[in-house]
Amino acid sequence: NVGQSTNIVWHECSVGRHDREKLLQQKGCVIWITGLSGSGKSTLACALSRGLHCRGKLTYILDGDNVRHGLNRDLSFKAEDRAENIRRVGEVAKLFADAGVICIASLISPYRRDRDACRALLPDGNFVEVFMDASLQLCEARDSKGLYKLARAGKIKGFTGIDDPYEPPLNCEIAIQAKDGDCSSPADMAKQVIAYLEENGYMQ
Ligand code: PPS
Repeated sequence: NVGQSTNIVWHECSVGRHDREKLLQQKGCVIWITGLSGSGKSTLACALSRGLHCRGKLTYILDGDNVRHGLNRDLSFKAEDRAENIRRVGEVAKLFADAGVICIASLISPYRRDRDACRALLPDGNFVEVFMDASLQLCEARDSKGLYKLARAGKIKGFTGIDDPYEPPLNCEIAIQAKDGDCSSPADMAKQVIAYLEENGYMQ
Protein backbone atom coordinates (compact mmCIF):
# COMPACT_ATOMS: atom_id res chain seq x y z
CA ASN A 1 0.00 0.00 0.00
CA VAL A 2 3.00 2.32 -0.28
CA GLY A 3 1.89 5.54 -1.98
CA GLN A 4 -1.78 5.00 -1.22
CA SER A 5 -3.98 6.62 1.42
CA THR A 6 -4.81 4.19 4.21
CA ASN A 7 -6.34 4.52 7.67
CA ILE A 8 -8.36 7.56 6.68
CA VAL A 9 -11.79 8.43 8.08
CA TRP A 10 -14.35 10.74 6.41
CA HIS A 11 -15.09 13.87 8.48
CA GLU A 12 -18.58 15.36 8.28
CA CYS A 13 -19.32 19.07 8.93
CA SER A 14 -22.61 20.59 10.09
CA VAL A 15 -22.58 22.97 7.10
CA GLY A 16 -23.45 20.79 4.14
CA ARG A 17 -24.11 20.95 0.43
CA HIS A 18 -27.78 21.87 0.88
CA ASP A 19 -26.87 24.79 3.16
CA ARG A 20 -24.50 26.12 0.53
CA GLU A 21 -27.03 25.60 -2.26
CA LYS A 22 -29.65 27.45 -0.22
CA LEU A 23 -27.23 30.33 0.33
CA LEU A 24 -26.38 30.50 -3.37
CA GLN A 25 -29.96 29.79 -4.51
CA GLN A 26 -28.82 27.28 -7.07
CA LYS A 27 -28.14 23.58 -7.50
CA GLY A 28 -24.53 22.48 -7.80
CA CYS A 29 -23.84 20.26 -10.79
CA VAL A 30 -21.26 19.37 -13.40
CA ILE A 31 -21.73 20.23 -17.04
CA TRP A 32 -19.20 18.09 -18.90
CA ILE A 33 -18.43 19.26 -22.44
CA THR A 34 -16.69 16.68 -24.65
CA GLY A 35 -15.61 16.76 -28.28
CA LEU A 36 -12.71 16.96 -30.70
CA SER A 37 -10.08 19.67 -30.56
CA GLY A 38 -11.56 22.71 -32.29
CA SER A 39 -15.16 21.55 -31.88
CA GLY A 40 -16.02 24.64 -29.81
CA LYS A 41 -15.86 23.25 -26.25
CA SER A 42 -14.07 26.22 -24.69
CA THR A 43 -16.19 28.70 -26.66
CA LEU A 44 -19.37 27.07 -25.39
CA ALA A 45 -17.97 26.89 -21.84
CA CYS A 46 -17.32 30.66 -21.84
CA ALA A 47 -20.68 31.55 -23.40
CA LEU A 48 -22.45 29.28 -20.94
CA SER A 49 -20.58 30.74 -17.99
CA ARG A 50 -21.50 34.23 -19.18
CA GLY A 51 -25.16 33.29 -19.76
CA LEU A 52 -25.52 31.70 -16.33
CA HIS A 53 -23.59 34.50 -14.61
CA CYS A 54 -26.02 37.02 -16.13
CA ARG A 55 -28.85 34.98 -14.60
CA GLY A 56 -27.19 35.28 -11.18
CA LYS A 57 -25.67 31.78 -11.09
CA LEU A 58 -22.18 31.03 -9.79
CA THR A 59 -20.13 29.01 -12.27
CA TYR A 60 -16.55 27.87 -12.63
CA ILE A 61 -14.82 26.53 -15.75
CA LEU A 62 -12.31 23.68 -15.69
CA ASP A 63 -10.80 23.77 -19.18
CA GLY A 64 -8.49 20.96 -20.31
CA ASP A 65 -5.90 23.27 -21.84
CA ASN A 66 -5.88 25.51 -18.74
CA VAL A 67 -5.80 22.74 -16.13
CA ARG A 68 -2.84 21.24 -17.98
CA HIS A 69 -0.93 24.47 -17.21
CA GLY A 70 -1.06 23.70 -13.48
CA LEU A 71 -2.73 20.79 -11.67
CA ASN A 72 -2.20 18.41 -14.60
CA ARG A 73 1.05 19.74 -16.02
CA ASP A 74 2.71 16.37 -15.36
CA LEU A 75 0.41 14.50 -17.74
CA SER A 76 0.95 13.65 -21.41
CA PHE A 77 -1.62 12.69 -24.04
CA LYS A 78 -1.13 8.93 -23.91
CA ALA A 79 -4.29 7.02 -22.95
CA GLU A 80 -3.42 6.43 -19.28
CA ASP A 81 -2.43 10.06 -18.77
CA ARG A 82 -5.61 11.27 -20.45
CA ALA A 83 -7.51 8.94 -18.08
CA GLU A 84 -5.69 10.48 -15.08
CA ASN A 85 -6.35 13.98 -16.45
CA ILE A 86 -10.08 13.23 -16.66
CA ARG A 87 -10.11 11.51 -13.25
CA ARG A 88 -8.51 14.49 -11.50
CA VAL A 89 -10.77 17.00 -13.24
CA GLY A 90 -13.78 14.80 -12.41
CA GLU A 91 -12.81 14.82 -8.74
CA VAL A 92 -12.27 18.59 -8.70
CA ALA A 93 -15.58 19.12 -10.53
CA LYS A 94 -17.28 17.00 -7.88
CA LEU A 95 -15.87 19.29 -5.16
CA PHE A 96 -17.17 22.35 -7.00
CA ALA A 97 -20.64 20.78 -7.33
CA ASP A 98 -20.54 19.96 -3.62
CA ALA A 99 -19.69 23.62 -3.00
CA GLY A 100 -22.97 24.47 -4.80
CA VAL A 101 -21.25 25.76 -7.93
CA ILE A 102 -22.27 24.99 -11.50
CA CYS A 103 -18.98 23.55 -12.69
CA ILE A 104 -18.36 23.53 -16.44
CA ALA A 105 -15.65 21.05 -17.45
CA SER A 106 -14.50 21.24 -21.05
CA LEU A 107 -12.06 18.56 -22.11
CA ILE A 108 -11.67 16.35 -25.15
CA SER A 109 -12.16 13.40 -22.78
CA PRO A 110 -11.99 10.97 -25.71
CA TYR A 111 -12.77 7.74 -23.86
CA ARG A 112 -16.31 6.80 -22.82
CA ARG A 113 -15.13 4.87 -19.77
CA ASP A 114 -13.30 7.94 -18.37
CA ARG A 115 -16.36 10.18 -18.84
CA ASP A 116 -18.64 7.53 -17.36
CA ALA A 117 -16.32 7.24 -14.33
CA CYS A 118 -16.74 11.00 -13.73
CA ARG A 119 -20.52 10.67 -14.05
CA ALA A 120 -20.43 7.87 -11.47
CA LEU A 121 -18.72 10.20 -8.95
CA LEU A 122 -21.83 12.38 -8.73
CA PRO A 123 -25.35 11.78 -7.47
CA ASP A 124 -27.87 10.84 -10.22
CA GLY A 125 -28.84 13.81 -12.35
CA ASN A 126 -25.90 15.98 -11.28
CA PHE A 127 -23.82 15.26 -14.38
CA VAL A 128 -24.89 16.78 -17.67
CA GLU A 129 -22.86 15.52 -20.61
CA VAL A 130 -22.75 17.86 -23.60
CA PHE A 131 -21.36 16.51 -26.86
CA MET A 132 -19.93 18.99 -29.35
CA ASP A 133 -20.95 17.06 -32.43
CA ALA A 134 -18.60 18.55 -35.02
CA SER A 135 -16.98 16.37 -37.68
CA LEU A 136 -13.23 15.92 -37.90
CA GLN A 137 -13.44 17.51 -41.36
CA LEU A 138 -14.97 20.68 -39.87
CA CYS A 139 -12.57 20.85 -36.89
CA GLU A 140 -9.60 20.31 -39.16
CA ALA A 141 -10.80 22.98 -41.59
CA ARG A 142 -11.08 25.43 -38.68
CA ASP A 143 -7.69 24.44 -37.19
CA SER A 144 -7.64 27.59 -35.07
CA LYS A 145 -4.46 26.52 -33.22
CA GLY A 146 -2.70 24.98 -36.22
CA LEU A 147 -2.45 21.66 -34.36
CA TYR A 148 -4.17 19.51 -37.01
CA LYS A 149 -1.63 20.71 -39.56
CA LEU A 150 1.20 19.70 -37.22
CA ALA A 151 -0.46 16.34 -36.54
CA ARG A 152 -0.90 15.64 -40.28
CA ALA A 153 2.76 16.50 -40.77
CA GLY A 154 3.67 13.97 -38.07
CA LYS A 155 4.99 16.70 -35.78
CA ILE A 156 2.43 15.87 -33.07
CA LYS A 157 1.96 12.17 -32.39
CA GLY A 158 -1.24 10.73 -30.95
CA PHE A 159 -3.48 13.65 -31.87
CA THR A 160 -7.17 13.00 -31.22
CA GLY A 161 -9.06 12.27 -34.43
CA ILE A 162 -5.88 11.88 -36.50
CA ASP A 163 -3.91 9.02 -34.96
CA ASP A 164 -5.67 8.74 -31.60
CA PRO A 165 -9.30 7.71 -30.96
CA TYR A 166 -12.36 9.72 -30.02
CA GLU A 167 -15.41 7.81 -28.76
CA PRO A 168 -18.60 9.86 -29.13
CA PRO A 169 -21.12 9.58 -26.27
CA LEU A 170 -23.93 7.03 -26.65
CA ASN A 171 -26.31 8.60 -24.13
CA CYS A 172 -25.41 12.24 -23.57
CA GLU A 173 -27.94 14.71 -22.19
CA ILE A 174 -27.29 17.30 -24.92
CA ALA A 175 -25.71 17.12 -28.39
CA ILE A 176 -24.78 20.34 -30.11
CA GLN A 177 -24.50 19.91 -33.85
CA ALA A 178 -22.01 22.07 -35.69
CA LYS A 179 -22.16 21.90 -39.45
CA ASP A 180 -20.19 23.61 -42.15
CA GLY A 181 -21.70 27.03 -42.80
CA ASP A 182 -23.76 26.81 -39.62
CA CYS A 183 -24.25 30.25 -38.16
CA SER A 184 -25.37 29.32 -34.62
CA SER A 185 -23.53 31.69 -32.31
CA PRO A 186 -21.88 30.71 -29.01
CA ALA A 187 -24.74 32.50 -27.23
CA ASP A 188 -27.29 30.35 -29.14
CA MET A 189 -25.42 27.18 -28.16
CA ALA A 190 -25.35 28.33 -24.54
CA LYS A 191 -29.10 28.99 -24.68
CA GLN A 192 -29.64 25.38 -25.74
CA VAL A 193 -27.84 24.20 -22.59
CA ILE A 194 -29.54 26.75 -20.32
CA ALA A 195 -32.95 25.66 -21.68
CA TYR A 196 -32.08 22.08 -20.69
CA LEU A 197 -31.02 23.22 -17.20
CA GLU A 198 -34.27 25.18 -16.79
CA GLU A 199 -36.45 22.30 -17.98
CA ASN A 200 -34.70 19.88 -15.63
CA GLY A 201 -34.88 21.93 -12.43
CA TYR A 202 -31.24 23.04 -12.20
CA MET A 203 -32.03 26.75 -12.17
CA GLN A 204 -34.48 26.73 -9.17
S1 PPS B 1 -7.80 15.11 -22.95
O1 PPS B 1 -7.81 14.18 -24.10
O2 PPS B 1 -9.17 15.30 -22.42
O3 PPS B 1 -6.87 14.66 -21.91
O4 PPS B 1 -7.31 16.51 -23.53
P1 PPS B 1 -7.47 17.95 -22.84
O5 PPS B 1 -6.96 17.95 -21.46
O6 PPS B 1 -8.86 18.44 -23.06
O7 PPS B 1 -6.46 18.85 -23.69
C1 PPS B 1 -6.75 19.10 -25.03
C2 PPS B 1 -5.91 20.27 -25.56
O8 PPS B 1 -4.55 19.90 -25.64
C3 PPS B 1 -3.98 20.31 -26.88
N1 PPS B 1 -3.31 19.11 -27.42
C4 PPS B 1 -3.87 17.95 -27.83
N2 PPS B 1 -5.15 17.56 -28.01
C5 PPS B 1 -5.35 16.29 -28.45
N3 PPS B 1 -4.39 15.41 -28.74
C6 PPS B 1 -3.09 15.76 -28.58
N4 PPS B 1 -2.11 14.89 -28.84
C7 PPS B 1 -2.79 17.07 -28.10
N5 PPS B 1 -1.64 17.74 -27.85
C8 PPS B 1 -1.97 18.96 -27.43
C9 PPS B 1 -5.07 20.93 -27.70
O9 PPS B 1 -4.85 22.33 -27.67
C10 PPS B 1 -6.35 20.62 -26.96
O10 PPS B 1 -7.20 21.75 -26.82
P2 PPS B 1 -8.66 21.87 -27.49
O11 PPS B 1 -9.29 22.99 -26.73
O12 PPS B 1 -9.40 20.58 -27.31
O13 PPS B 1 -8.40 22.22 -28.91
